Amino acid sequence: MAENDQKDKTVEKVTGEVENTDKKENNEDRYEKVCFICHRPESVTGKMIDLPNNICVCPDCMQKSFDAMNNMNFGGMDYSQFMNMGPMMGFGDMDAQIPKSQRVKKKKPEEEKEPILNIKDIPAPHKIKAKLDEYVVGQEYAKKVMSVAVYNHYKRVATDTMDEIEIEKSNMLMIGPTGSGKTYLVKTLAKLLDVPLAITDATSLTEAGYIGDDIESVVSKLLAAADNDVDKAEQGIIFIDEIDKIAKKKNTSQRDVSGESVQQGMLKLLEGSEVEVPVGANSKNAMVPLTTVNTKNILFICGGAFPDLEQIIKERLMKNSSIGFGADLKDKYDHDKKILEKVTTEDLRNFGMIPEFLGRLPIVFTLQGLDEEMMVQILKEPKNAILKQYQKLLALDEVNLKFDDGALHAIARKAMKKDTGARALRAIIEEFMLDIMYEIPKDDSIGEVTITEAYIEGTGGPLIELRSQSVPRLEHH
Ligand SMILES: Nc1ncnc2c1ncn2[C@@H]1O[C@H](COP(=O)(O)OP(=O)(O)OP(=O)(O)O)[C@@H](O)[C@H]1O
Ligand SMILES: [Mg+2]
Repeated sequence: MAENDQKDKTVEKVTGEVENTDKKENNEDRYEKVCFICHRPESVTGKMIDLPNNICVCPDCMQKSFDAMNNMNFGGMDYSQFMNMGPMMGFGDMDAQIPKSQRVKKKKPEEEKEPILNIKDIPAPHKIKAKLDEYVVGQEYAKKVMSVAVYNHYKRVATDTMDEIEIEKSNMLMIGPTGSGKTYLVKTLAKLLDVPLAITDATSLTEAGYIGDDIESVVSKLLAAADNDVDKAEQGIIFIDEIDKIAKKKNTSQRDVSGESVQQGMLKLLEGSEVEVPVGANSKNAMVPLTTVNTKNILFICGGAFPDLEQIIKERLMKNSSIGFGADLKDKYDHDKKILEKVTTEDLRNFGMIPEFLGRLPIVFTLQGLDEEMMVQILKEPKNAILKQYQKLLALDEVNLKFDDGALHAIARKAMKKDTGARALRAIIEEFMLDIMYEIPKDDSIGEVTITEAYIEGTGGPLIELRSQSVPRLEHH
């Protein structure tokens, strides 16, 4: 009886598998064949030789195998014998299956290949900026610079065949205090343009061969963001955050594997080069297939807070003006909020960025620190503003949530004190909303809540209005 059961199961299993392979084969078609030995895809190696058990070997490796065997004096070994070695060598059960996440999608055949970004589709700078305006408050200059740079970049990509006048790449360097919207700007931009985006922390990068991610791993991240589609990845955006953390260290005698060497390693990437990247993993090893990505059309945006940069700029400005009649007072620039805008490449070099690196980031711009008014706007204006989120949540309970202007300013003032930019807003508002979100659903008769300045300052409570009896309320369960 038990034996019969067993048999039934095996039969089931076998038929199940047959169906599976059918599906698999259809599915397989979209993926490139990968050499079993060297893991390069067919688009690189040329036509694969199919062996039994779904194993493919590229002509190079095949030739090498034969050569090796001949050298070992196996002599006269013929092809058919080699084929039979498959199962003998234990290839059989491996099924040559490299997981999908590690495989490159086949390039679409030429004729149906449409440019991802048609030059006609590329929105004009003012349109890009208008879209950014819906999400990002203030930072007018940064938004303008980015819109133009992105527009030019994709124009350059779309026109591809440049004659003598080759348009240079518009890689960007973004400088701004913490929480002022650097990462947010780039994320929003990538979303609007519908291009793949990879965000990496420069701090995690080290020179190849050391512990940490090697520099080329940023490209494989982008490839992953593009669903392993090389064409898409080649038009994506790579954002390298915390770029100030890889400044050249002053006064060290040790080898600087995570600072200056990373800058150096990044040079050819920024400029445009062919990079061999592992597919579906961020380190190269023997078991991971490789593919080639050209970084020529990838837009690089580097961002950082550059904390001591202000001091460097001040010193330079003071030096210029401390001689002769024009000598300034010592603290002239101490309260200058816009001091960062005066940054020059010289300052950045003094900060510890190497000239070659800066040379490959032609567009440098700064973001302003947020002031109280901008904080208030961030609370209520962007498309997915924090206030709108809470209002939506409470609206589901049919409660109308309102904020006094005074309350918003009080929240903004509290956030300003924390010096972490707009990040502080969320934390503060969360704290005050906790009680509201907890208490309101208890009482079905509440129709409207107004958050007042007094509530935020801790001297009073929110204003609560009961719903008029005439409006029936949905039952709570
Ligand atoms: N100008 C802005 N407009 C709208 N929202 C903003 C703005 N600046 C910041 N925010 C909000 O604050 C959050 C944090 O900003 P972001 O992550 O961009 O900071 P950052 O400049 O990258 O700081 P860091 O240097 O610490 O990485 C964002 O997710 C966004 O919600
Ligand atoms: Mg950031």
